[in-house]
Amino acid sequence: MKSMINFKNQKKYSYPFDYLVIDDCFDTETLDKLLDEWPSDKLAYAGSVMGGRRQISNTGAEQAALGWMGQSAPTWKSFYDYLNTDEMMNKFKKEFQPSLDTWGCTLEEDDSIFGLKMFLHVDWSEAGDGYVREIHADSQKRFVNFLIFFNDKQWDGGDFVIHSSDNIEEFPAPGGNYVKHYTENDAPIHEVVQAKKNRAIFFLSSPNSLHSVSKQENTKEYRKFIYGAYSRRDKMRPVFSNYTNTLKK
Ligand SMILES: [Fe+2]
Repeated sequence: MKSMINFKNQKKYSYPFDYLVIDDCFDTETLDKLLDEWPSDKLAYAGSVMGGRRQISNTGAEQAALGWMGQSAPTWKSFYDYLNTDEMMNKFKKEFQPSLDTWGCTLEEDDSIFGLKMFLHVDWSEAGDGYVREIHADSQKRFVNFLIFFNDKQWDGGDFVIHSSDNIEEFPAPGGNYVKHYTENDAPIHEVVQAKKNRAIFFLSSPNSLHSVSKQENTKEYRKFIYGAYSRRDKMRPVFSNYTNTLKK
């Protein structure tokens, strides 16, 4: 299948954790179609979660996004099908291979999407005033997370922030859905990746992948984005097994 993401544009970073930033993620024609099919009306009905962000997703009881894509969003359906493959997940495995070793990745050959051990989550979101995410690493079932932005900033804040964990010796031991929050003392800001139309960020969900979203204010147009992750279905089995910060300086 033709690559829908322009991976040739990717900039790869391995500090403080592994991430890719891809500008001009989609070609213009695809981007226009995705924007055209953007589910504004569906999101207007969706409830607000995480303070100021409304979303529909392909997972959860409703799986609302599946019906929407199947009936009225063929370009999104193609993109979703393109992402929802072991081929794509394995591409990230290769991309981030050295860090999989560092963090004791527990994924094995049969941890596949085809074998139903892994799954792709995607949500289509619009954020407004008050949207903010504290400094955290995502839950232990996650392998790779991503964000793609669909409009240029018509608001203040609302950026994706990458934090360094040089001062942290031990990350919290995995346990269910517990998510530890950090302060900027523990985890200083390393880089602010601004929200920008057609920009994607993919990152390894390693124990040190501390990130946050700065508080969004003065919103003139909702921040449109998708957030997604490749995860293990068995959420009690952590994807990474090393929680000691061997990279500590
Ligand atoms: Fe997160």
